[in-house]
Amino acid sequence: MPDNLEELTAAVQALPYLYQPIFGYEIQGAKPIRNCEDRLADVKKIYDALSAELRRPLRVLDLGCAQGYFSLYAAKWGGVVTGLDFEAANIDLCRLLARENADLKVNFVCTRIEDFLPTVKAGEYDLVLCFNVLHWCSKFSGFEVVQAQLADLAQKIDIGLFELALKSEGIFQDCNLPENYRDFLTGFSFVRVLSYNYRHIRPDLAHVKRPLCFASTKYAWFENLGLLKIDDVLVSPRGARTICYFCGDKFVKITNITDEAQYGRAQREINFLNTFGGQKGLPRLYITINEQDESGMRIIHVRDMIAGKTLREKITNGENFDRWNVIRQTLEWMVLFEQQGYYQGDVGAHNLIYTDDGRIYPVDYETIGDSPALYLWLYSAKLQFLNFINFILEPGKSNEYTFPLPMYLLNLKKHVTPRQYERIAAIREDEKFFARLYEILFEPEKDAEAYTVAETEILAIERYVSYIGTKTQEHEEQIAEQQRRIEELEKIIRERLT
Ligand SMILES: C[S@@+](CC[C@H](N)C(=O)[O-])C[C@H]1O[C@@H](n2cnc3c(N)ncnc32)[C@H](O)[C@@H]1O
Repeated sequence: MPDNLEELTAAVQALPYLYQPIFGYEIQGAKPIRNCEDRLADVKKIYDALSAELRRPLRVLDLGCAQGYFSLYAAKWGGVVTGLDFEAANIDLCRLLARENADLKVNFVCTRIEDFLPTVKAGEYDLVLCFNVLHWCSKFSGFEVVQAQLADLAQKIDIGLFELALKSEGIFQDCNLPENYRDFLTGFSFVRVLSYNYRHIRPDLAHVKRPLCFASTKYAWFENLGLLKIDDVLVSPRGARTICYFCGDKFVKITNITDEAQYGRAQREINFLNTFGGQKGLPRLYITINEQDESGMRIIHVRDMIAGKTLREKITNGENFDRWNVIRQTLEWMVLFEQQGYYQGDVGAHNLIYTDDGRIYPVDYETIGDSPALYLWLYSAKLQFLNFINFILEPGKSNEYTFPLPMYLLNLKKHVTPRQYERIAAIREDEKFFARLYEILFEPEKDAEAYTVAETEILAIERYVSYIGTKTQEHEEQIAEQQRRIEELEKIIRERLT
């Protein structure tokens, strides 16, 4: 096609600069600024995933398409593509290439991005590409305008891919760039960097790594799991410290690390999931990512979703449930954790999920650490749990978090037998608290054994006496001795209770 080649060569020569390779052609002496294959691999991955999800070819919009490299590839994969650029020479070349590839469904428009975006209709495009151009839009139209236009776009498309110039590059001083490149994308609920790509040609930019971001309000993306459809998003009330995404049977959490304490919480959570994930229906951990770049540090993980209502919702709705059963199940978790040296620091109705089949699961793992002396409210896993029992038994009366401290035991007295009450108060420091509490509340036989050897011995003597039919002096003395032991024990308990 020598004629075409000549025409193409002339069109290439007319360009202000050649940013991309020419789709399907080698033009002698034309050396593009970027080798685009690295980014093309990312685009293809997302194109394929979304196309599989929607079960059809995609409608693609390429903003600032330059020489149409990505537009033409997307069309080659089957997409119906619109490429736009405000540089007429680019669009002339793109149209020539489109003519050469007449089987592709690709259309090129010469216009400004800021003029075009307001005309986009919801659902008109599935995938939007927007690479290395927003700094120019921001220069001419202002950052806030661009940010608002992108927020609007976020509601109208499935996925946007953005490669962003950074303020830290230091060469776009007049482009109104934000300190944090992610500020361009605040309208999208899920943002992740797919890759950092180097620019090769200009020596002053050779060191620069630009983030290529996946941004969407509809999907989360992970290499190993693909696209996860977002059903709901929960942003922590105090700023976007944590963002939780509910995605079908998967739960995604992004923890933005703002300080050391936050880092500790995120680490505890991951640590817990690594230890207990998959045990007795606890969520399996699929992915953990520690990310750090100039936009900040974040820990991301994906785990199983536990479907159900929080216990707090159930209580607030005034729904009926077996309260002792809830206490029993929650205590079972505490026993399991304690066996392996873990303690939950924030046991509460908002942190427990009540599933449709009546199972209770803990869902906050940030506070599960290796010390029973908590850094949190009440400063003791034990006190907190006793208080939790009170709250579950009398939610109307006691506010979970403002219970006066001594009440945790006094109130409990109303709900358990005097014997149970004394035994709870007498749990020794060297015993496993939750295991012991479980025995006292739910396993009377084991409790009797654990409580005092003396009681079991008296029982054994009395059984023997009834078997042989006579009680000797020696038996009397043995029993009296054991009774003294019990009295001593009860004295200690009374002292502890007063
Ligand atoms: C640095 S190039 C990036 C090209 C391509 N997106 C890539 O990353 O391979 C920026 C392109 O956007 C175009 N452009 C810049 N500002 C624009 C605007 N406000 N509206 C439309 N196109 C614009 C330029 O003409 C240029 O082709």
